[in-house]
Amino acid sequence: MSDSKTKQTVDVLLEENRKFVPSKNFQAQAFYNNDSVYKDADSNYEEYWAQWAKKLDWISPWEKILEWKAPYAKWFIKGKLNACYNCVDRHVKNGKGSKTALVWEGEPTNDQGKPKDVLTITYDDVYLAVNKLANVYKSLGIKKGDRIAIYMPMIPEAIYAMLAAARIGAIHTVVFGGFSVDSLKGRINDAQAKLLITADGGFRRGKIIPLKSTCDEAVLDCPSIENVVVVKRCDNSIEMKSNRDYWYHDLVTNVDDFCPPEEMDSEDILFILYTSGTTGKPKGIIHTTGGYMTSVLATSKMVFDLTDDDIFWCTADVGWITGHSYIVYGPMANGVTQVIYEGTPDYPEKNRFWKIIERHKASVFYTAPTAIRAFMKWGVQWIDNIDLSSLKLLGTVGEPINPEAWIWYHKEIGKEKIPIVDTWWQTETGSIMISPLPGLTATKPGSATRPLPGIKAVVLNETGEELTEGGGYLAITRPWPSMLRGIYGDDQRFKDTYWSKWDGTYFPGDGANKDKEGYFWLLGRVDDVMNVAGHNIGTMEVESALVDHSSVAEAAVVGITDEIKGQAIAAFVILKEEISAEESLESELKEHVAKKIGAIARPKIIIFTPELPKTRSGKIMRRLLRDVAEGRALGDVTTLADPNVIQALKQKYEDK
Ligand code: WT7
Repeated sequence: MSDSKTKQTVDVLLEENRKFVPSKNFQAQAFYNNDSVYKDADSNYEEYWAQWAKKLDWISPWEKILEWKAPYAKWFIKGKLNACYNCVDRHVKNGKGSKTALVWEGEPTNDQGKPKDVLTITYDDVYLAVNKLANVYKSLGIKKGDRIAIYMPMIPEAIYAMLAAARIGAIHTVVFGGFSVDSLKGRINDAQAKLLITADGGFRRGKIIPLKSTCDEAVLDCPSIENVVVVKRCDNSIEMKSNRDYWYHDLVTNVDDFCPPEEMDSEDILFILYTSGTTGKPKGIIHTTGGYMTSVLATSKMVFDLTDDDIFWCTADVGWITGHSYIVYGPMANGVTQVIYEGTPDYPEKNRFWKIIERHKASVFYTAPTAIRAFMKWGVQWIDNIDLSSLKLLGTVGEPINPEAWIWYHKEIGKEKIPIVDTWWQTETGSIMISPLPGLTATKPGSATRPLPGIKAVVLNETGEELTEGGGYLAITRPWPSMLRGIYGDDQRFKDTYWSKWDGTYFPGDGANKDKEGYFWLLGRVDDVMNVAGHNIGTMEVESALVDHSSVAEAAVVGITDEIKGQAIAAFVILKEEISAEESLESELKEHVAKKIGAIARPKIIIFTPELPKTRSGKIMRRLLRDVAEGRALGDVTTLADPNVIQALKQKYEDK
């Protein structure tokens, strides 16, 4: 079908304002297909979650389901378990050792466009790998409670690195492989990690990302790091520092094949994952063991409708919470088969994802709206002649999906036959909170529909009154098992950020609209956090990176609408007295930010200005900067100290 014809159909489908109901077949086989589950879960949510928790293997049972003294929750008190055991050992013990756990595809392809590296990895294989690596960790002096930083490409060893840490009760903190030296350094130092595990490099869009050299630079300023373990992936030349750096493949040959899984308390920390906030410093979000494992096991099952025959593909990187919850812990706790891909969707051609679905017969595909918008732009010719008939369910995560992209996904990938689950959640929530249940929910394009069973989410106004309809702030009014347990080393920030807006109610920082049928429409962040291609980046983080440059005196950063990425970054920069605003400086500053934080934070536009619009009390009015950067008419300017500043800025922007 041509793109223009697709566009017409999109308009028709949207005009009808219709709901999309799962097919009779899907409903019949779905995990949940009776609406009573919402009411049942609601009548006793603690018991509802306890029923899910029972689907995990516990070393000793809990004595009490929940202890809730806002904002502190404890779930499954005194219960003992091991997350790695639940993701690996128990499947092997249950006779599923020969089942494929991971089908991994590396990025490089041969002359015929076929992937050079494909590995089929069984649960037995994973079992051996995590046991060995756990023993390697121990041999390097890692003990329960120590932190291990993981900075890896999307290769199986990244998953082993996480599970092996969980096996011995070490706390992992995964740093996305696209982050820069400074970002890696900041996270390692905040977590005081003793060990860093990385690879020589990773393949991305046909190039080698030199991960090890980034580590070398970072570790110079990370006194807590004692050793660096390096996986050989790209065979690029790297430096190995003696007595500090070791090859993964050497270390694993010298250890035992078995390492007993550590007995962990339900509330022992499983991992720390950093996410951006409204200050320059990312927050180390803490997740614990029993509650987190319960929620990810449950939501993987109910939202993705996973069965023993499914082949699940979540396109996220393990560096993000999506990779933690819906590659490593949720699907593996369910013992399913997954597809893992190392590279980008457009390498060597823009049909790579569809080829992967066809090749490995993926049945559930979970990706981000930004990717879908890119696919739309590339056009449907990339899907022609590809067999996508293995698919039974589609999902999205990371940002609101615009109805056009939803319809495109439904038509072109789902062939108008299969459900789409738009899943709302956060690093902090640990698991999906608002989403359709695919066998039950009539979906509306662009709406994440309603809170999952057991989850109580509402829309509140500023003073905390619940709105039955209309726009306000999203809030979660009841504890849930995988809720964050704090911010590592900063309890005050934990309270201030999430629990101070309304007493005892979790404030996620998102705006939401509830329609007259009770459907939730997520509206994006209400604070100074941007969402670029589904990833949070704080305005302050980018501003700090800019003022770190020797030419910059002051900077203000805003998120602006971007066709593909949802949001892009616009920076308003005041240069130091003696510096002139040359074009080369613009690209230099963009590069500087990418180097300080990572390529995802590279500003799309930089506007030099002699002054910034401020209120009389000196607060930068970002709202007006957004108006300028988006080319809109200026909003209310009456509270400005000097309204001329913004007029001049607008003029300058339009002349550019
Ligand atoms: C923020 C959380 C959840 C894993 C990926 C991002 C936005 C996420 C949706 C959605 C509308 C969404 C929110 C949220 N968000 N999913 N389906 N619809 N907005 O995790 O980096 O912690 O970001 O992403 O604004 O607060 P994260």
